[in-house]
Amino acid sequence: MQSLDVTPRVWDRLLAVRAGQACACCGVWSAGEQAALALYGPLARRDLGPAIVAQIGQSLDGRIATVAGDARDVSGQGGLAHLHRLRALVDGVVIGVGTALHDDPRLTVRLCPGPNPARIVIDPRGRLPDDAPMLRDDGVRRIVIQAVNRARPAGVEVIRMPLGERFFPARSVLQVLREAGVHSLLIEGGGITISRFLEARLLKRLHVAVAPLLIGAGPAALTTQRPELRLADCIRPETRVFSLGTDVLFDCALSDDAVGAASPVHGHAGAGLPSAPRSGFSAKVGVAANLTAES
Ligand SMILES: NC(=O)c1ccc[n+]([C@@H]2O[C@H](COP(=O)([O-])OP(=O)(O)OC[C@H]3O[C@@H](n4cnc5c(N)ncnc54)[C@H](OP(=O)(O)O)[C@@H]3O)[C@@H](O)[C@H]2O)c1
Repeated sequence: MQSLDVTPRVWDRLLAVRAGQACACCGVWSAGEQAALALYGPLARRDLGPAIVAQIGQSLDGRIATVAGDARDVSGQGGLAHLHRLRALVDGVVIGVGTALHDDPRLTVRLCPGPNPARIVIDPRGRLPDDAPMLRDDGVRRIVIQAVNRARPAGVEVIRMPLGERFFPARSVLQVLREAGVHSLLIEGGGITISRFLEARLLKRLHVAVAPLLIGAGPAALTTQRPELRLADCIRPETRVFSLGTDVLFDCALSDDAVGAASPVHGHAGAGLPSAPRSGFSAKVGVAANLTAES
């Protein structure tokens, strides 16, 4: 497990990477700073194409909230800081209306320096009230993707899509956002929304931040509509593990592109420290394989 040390200077570097003004590898960095470059570099780099990353903060037993919908403190301070860093690195953050209604999130970047992303909610039936915090006008783009013909407050962009079945195809959601100029995305939750993108194989990375907490019941982190029956058919992503201090982060690469993205641009990862293009990844079946072998 690698411990992150997100110092101001390494974070400045990552914001410069996001702006296309620097690489995510060269320089003299401590081991913790190097881990930060390895984790956030692939998301900050714009030369790799749009980053589509989902993050879920869950308990040890795989829950993201209580049965009453209380999700505020699932993640510890380290997990929250990580979430805000992800927001700062993407163009837009997407949530489902379930999360918007339960949590009233602002979806702004407050725990680190960086730009606020566009705020996007998938609300097919128009359930989100106009005074929801995420729709407040603070100069940032706000987008509602909906099927119904429902007016929204001035300044809120509405993208209407036909709802053929229960859900919009995740690929169509991505497409309309690209047409709107929003390319790299953080799919922030909840579980239903992330699962649609996962099933459609559109996520490049999935960040699972596990907090040392047992909830016992409540919404599950991820639930697919067509579950696999054999473990052999389940997704076994290449995974790196990082300590966020309070929480443990599993950084899962879900595409070959995402695996390759961990390679330093210039072939080395910092003076005096060994190059680790793919060596940070656990073996293909990593954690899941060990569990299977022992159970
Ligand atoms: N711990 C964490 O990291 C975390 C993060 C976020 C949320 N949460 C918690 O998770 C819970 C909510 O999560 P959830 O999974 O129940 O709901 P959710 O994903 O937030 O919202 C699901 C709803 O959004 C709409 N939706 C999402 N994707 C859609 C698509 N592709 N097409 C059409 N509609 C789509 C649908 O609305 P309709 O129902 O109107 O059709 C759907 O039922 C809350 O308790 C929240 O506090 C935890």
